[in-house]
Amino acid sequence: MDARKRHDVSILFVGDVVGGIGRRTLLSLLPQLRERLEPDFVVVNGENAAGGLGITPRNADELFEAGIDVITLGNHTYRHREIYRYLDAHEPILRPANFLRSQPGHGWCVVARGGVRLGVISLSGNLYMNAGRPAFPEADAALHALKGEVDHVLVDMHAEATSEKVGMGWHLDGRVTAVVGTHTHIATADARVLPGGTAYITDVGMTGPRGGVIGVKRELALEAMITKMPIKFETSTEDPWLNGVLIRAGEPMRAVSIEQVLEPAPGVR
Ligand SMILES: [Fe+2]
Ligand SMILES: [Fe+2]
Repeated sequence: MDARKRHDVSILFVGDVVGGIGRRTLLSLLPQLRERLEPDFVVVNGENAAGGLGITPRNADELFEAGIDVITLGNHTYRHREIYRYLDAHEPILRPANFLRSQPGHGWCVVARGGVRLGVISLSGNLYMNAGRPAFPEADAALHALKGEVDHVLVDMHAEATSEKVGMGWHLDGRVTAVVGTHTHIATADARVLPGGTAYITDVGMTGPRGGVIGVKRELALEAMITKMPIKFETSTEDPWLNGVLIRAGEPMRAVSIEQVLEPAPGVR
């Protein structure tokens, strides 16, 4: 008998991929991560994939061709106009569900593999963020819409405030498989399975240059901070790392574990 239960599933979630260096880091590490971690699904936040801000259809195609199952986005979603139609036309690329309904794209999708259906929901925080509608009722609405359609749900809570992210973790505890935070680009040390069975982390971190300032060349970021003058930012390529989490789940909507995946990519330029 197959020891693997019907809903046994593992999900690799990769934090904000920043620029070409982030894409190359992800693509170069992915084969060995697949071999070592054997994820059933790979979900990637791609909001910084295009030169550090936004994503283009080409970037998205490249990620899907590499076998990424779902791309989530965030506040930089609409940086490139070419992506607007793509967001409407392609199911597995998500902008935050609590953006205005009039904005291009959609906020959740379902992907299936080996008889397991994974729902993915993208949300944006409201504190210090520009989402048009509140995140908490939208999370409930998305779950209602997915009811009966999914075995597991992963939520990407793209937010600035740690309070809003942990609040969303508690709000959804026991109702989804995982709530992972993104946007601040710095991995936090609080990965855990909450008492109701939801895997949670406040920020997954970023996949990109750790030698910069959340992705930006550090000398440019520092100049802006020190001089208080406008500076044109460029993406750093120094010290690329992949930051992610691996979530293992058993019964529907119940995580068994969440572990951080923090991998340097020294050969990548
Ligand atoms: Fe980001
Ligand atoms: Fe962001």
